[in-house]
Order: sequence, then C-alpha cells, then structure tokens
Amino acid sequence: MKGIILAGGSGSRLYPITKIYSKQLTVIYDKPLIYYPLSILMLGGIREILIISNSETIPFYQQLFGSGSQLGLEIEYAVQQAPNGIAEAFIIGEKFINGESVVLILGDNIFYGSLEFFYRGIRNNVGATIFGYKVNDPERYGIVEFDKEGKAISIEEKPKKPKSNYAVPGIYIYNNEIIEISKNLKPSARGELEITDVNKEYLIKGKLKVEKIGRGIAWLDTGTPEALLQASNFFGVIEERQGLKVACIEEIAYYMNYISKNEFEILISSIPRSLYKDYLEKLLRE
Ligand code: G1P
Repeated sequence: MKGIILAGGSGSRLYPITKIYSKQLTVIYDKPLIYYPLSILMLGGIREILIISNSETIPFYQQLFGSGSQLGLEIEYAVQQAPNGIAEAFIIGEKFINGESVVLILGDNIFYGSLEFFYRGIRNNVGATIFGYKVNDPERYGIVEFDKEGKAISIEEKPKKPKSNYAVPGIYIYNNEIIEISKNLKPSARGELEITDVNKEYLIKGKLKVEKIGRGIAWLDTGTPEALLQASNFFGVIEERQGLKVACIEEIAYYMNYISKNEFEILISSIPRSLYKDYLEKLLRE
C-alpha cells in the first residue's frame, strides 16, 4: 500500500499566510500542519509516501523530511503545476503507485482519536473505501447519502441542498483501478478533476465502501484563520494535559519500529536544543 499526501491547492482563503508557501506548512500548535496527515499514514503502516505540492513549496518539504530514511520511510516528491484537483494526484503519482493500492490523504486534513476506522479500511479494502463524518456545514464538502440499510447511494460535491450531513473527509483508499478512473475524468465546472467524481465512478461499479466515522473522532478543518486557531488550541490543550505529543513523527517512527533505538538516538542528536528535543529524549529514557 502506497501513500500520497496532496499538499497543494491555492489556499487563497488563508492569504497572506499562503502568499509564500502552501498552507500545509502553517503551524498547528507546535508543528507544521503536514505532520498531522503524515503521522496518520505512518500509523497506518504506510512507509512509501509521495508528497505532491506546487513547485515553490516542494523545496520546503524536502528540507523538512529529506528522503524520509531518518524516520524509516521512503519519501518522494512531485510537483502539481496548478491546482487542477485532487484526483490529478493519481495521474501525477502513477509511476510511484506502480500497480499497487494507495491511500490519499489531503495535507490539510487532521484526524485525532482512535484510528481503527482507517486500519480496518486498509485491511479490508477491495475497490475503494472512503468515510462519512457528520458535520454541521455540509455545503462545504463532498456529501454522501445513505439508504435505510446504511448503504451509500449518492455522492455530491458541495451540494447547495445536501441530502445528508455526512461529509467525506480527505482520506481515501483505492485499489489500482484509480489510475484508469482518474485518467478518464473530465474537469468539473470549477476546472478541477474532482475526487467526488472518482468516488461516483466506484459507486456506479458497485465497488465503493463508505464507512461512517463515529463521534469519538475529531476531524478538524484548517480552511480559515479561525479553524487554524481552533486546531492549535485543541492540540495545545491535549498536549499540555497529557504531556504527550500528537503527530510527533519521530516518536511514531520509533514506536512503530520503523527505526531502531540507536537510529532514534542519532535522530534526536540532529535536533537542536528545544522542548521538542526534550520530549524525544524523555521517550528514549523510558
Ligand atoms: C475537498 C473535496 C471534498 C472533501 C474535502 C475534505 O474539498 O473536494 O469532497 O469533502 O476536500 O476536506 P476542497 O478542499 O477542494 O474544498
């Protein structure tokens, strides 16, 4: 199973933060936003990861993660020339995916809580597995409608009159049919290759599974300055209360045995004196 983080988009709603680089580098409490989706892939056991962004931002990601080997990962990078839509990620990533299945996570989507829904999706996926999460503002998302038996019957992108309150979060699991499906998509009215059109295609083929995510999981939005502040406060509260870091990729690499104790030590020694380093040193001693 390969993993793609799509960290592109114009991010225009966050101007001027996004004047210099893409919004997935903005800070959520104590680390860049992209650490959060990266940590989800890592926890899902995915170690071969492609980061897609615009040409201005890719060098910053390379600076952050390099080849990924210090985390026991293989990270590659690719440029999306223009914000042509989420589904373009599979066309850009065709070689990287190399005939396998793939998880796509949007670089601005944050999940917190038990990831059992995700692990199960990875284990059991046949065609496509996506998720449904109850929200208050369904007009802003891809929306899935269920029948009485809980089977998905329609999906619409940002509907004016939503048929349900179940939004589709930016975490998608696909078999390799995704490549053909993406290549055959036509751009939508907003000029993008829509992920919702991909999911509709799997739905028509009878190969789409939509799993509801329960209320114990936080799926946070980062599309506006308020949402960024709320997410920062949320993780600030949790980290301070528990003394544990969320989305600490070095900790996860160690905890998942992607790196040995010795490699973890070497990694820590490369980090400048900081609270972050203190935290990792404490883990090493435990
Ligand atoms: C995109 C998808 C939408 C999905 C959302 C999740 O929206 O098109 O279906 O619900 O991500 O974050 P966009 O970020 O392009 O507005």
